[in-house]
Amino acid sequence: MYELIQDSKYKGGDFFNFSKTTLLPRHRWYHLKEGFSASLVEEAINQKLSGKVRSLRIFEPFGGTGTTPLVAALNHHQSTAIEVNPFLAFTAKVKTSAGKWNTDRFNVYVNRIIEESTRGEYSPLEGFSTFTERDVLTKWLFNKSVLRRYTSLVKVIDDVGGTYRDSLKLAAIVAAYDCCNARRDGKALRYKKNWKDLKYSDKEFVNRFRVRASVMGQDVASHSINSEFRPIIINGDSRKLLSTLDNKSFDLVVTSPPYLNSFDYSDIYRPELFLGGYVKDNNELKSLRLKTLRSHVQTLWTDDMSFESMLLNPIKERLKNNEMLWNKNIPLMVHAYFDDMHQLFQELKPKLRRNGQVWLVVSTSAFGGVHIPVDLILADAAIQAGFSLQGIHCLRQLRTSGQQWKHFATKLPPLRESLLIMSV
Ligand SMILES: C[S@@+](CC[C@H](N)C(=O)[O-])C[C@H]1O[C@@H](n2cnc3c(N)ncnc32)[C@H](O)[C@@H]1O
Repeated sequence: MYELIQDSKYKGGDFFNFSKTTLLPRHRWYHLKEGFSASLVEEAINQKLSGKVRSLRIFEPFGGTGTTPLVAALNHHQSTAIEVNPFLAFTAKVKTSAGKWNTDRFNVYVNRIIEESTRGEYSPLEGFSTFTERDVLTKWLFNKSVLRRYTSLVKVIDDVGGTYRDSLKLAAIVAAYDCCNARRDGKALRYKKNWKDLKYSDKEFVNRFRVRASVMGQDVASHSINSEFRPIIINGDSRKLLSTLDNKSFDLVVTSPPYLNSFDYSDIYRPELFLGGYVKDNNELKSLRLKTLRSHVQTLWTDDMSFESMLLNPIKERLKNNEMLWNKNIPLMVHAYFDDMHQLFQELKPKLRRNGQVWLVVSTSAFGGVHIPVDLILADAAIQAGFSLQGIHCLRQLRTSGQQWKHFATKLPPLRESLLIMSV
């Protein structure tokens, strides 16, 4: 029904590689594993520019840590992004808004903050969940001395940080995560193999903070952002907020929605969400989870899903009563994901100007031995919402991993990451 461009000009190269992006100035302030390629955003912008049009308005409905708005700002284009996770939205804001700094003054601030926070302070996270050591726990995320120093440092930042407050708060959160006994690994936080021997302490935390802050100082000096192009970053659910934006506002959308891989993004960013005070307890975490796109099983199900597709129907049949699924809600999740995305496409279309384009990166999925061509079904959802499809480009085949994949690998095509280009 829809043809996949296998030998795409976008295949290979840097168009899917976020690890390169995380070496770039400002992008490197935070490593989001699910982030995407800055080169891809640049390519989309360059393709959209023409002799007459030299300045674009760009939109990203799944902002993450702001790859799209950051590339837009550095290349002198206006942009808006929506991101549901308050910590990620904060990070995107910091990366794209830190203006002109006086480097010497900044360094003086960093030193002062370190000196004034030497006496660690009790953290409200002590004793909460698995955050610190307790009698009943064999593993904990942070050693107390790291958490206490983090707490006193952030207090001083709040008091004296001035212009640099948000950037330095981000540096402190990232430095604390550098000293976390666990790290993100796929769907979960996993303890580092030698976490006990690492013995992270307040000293290591301060070293990491210094490094993080110094990188920020260098990047702001070398890559300034003109206030005219400072992006608008909105924290919230794009399914709800899109309707509040003006019609015909954007020339280009460059985005990558959560993949249909059952990752609960709110859960894996738990350390930063709690450290930064964006979430105070498990109820708030749960309510954040319910605002995310239904790409995972920890979500709300409704029985009013209206999206239908000839490509989805046989998949729904094969998932129904499939005994190899690890969770009984997977069939609902798959339908709900496409229902959410179809609704999003419907709301997105009127926001685009004439000849507006959408560049969207996504990967295919597999559950219980059933391959789900997410790229093709999303193309169908976008067409049903009134978009014209310009192409589905295969960017790369994905390394297959995980128990479930090993089990079915011989019978299934490899997963792929694709780029959909659509226009209005
Ligand atoms: C694949 S990541 C995007 C990464 C981004 N392109 C970058 O380079 O940083 C998908 C993002 O969508 C966000 N998200 C999930 N549900 C959302 C919703 N309903 N509204 C807005 N953002 C959402 C997730 O928190 C995650 O940051």
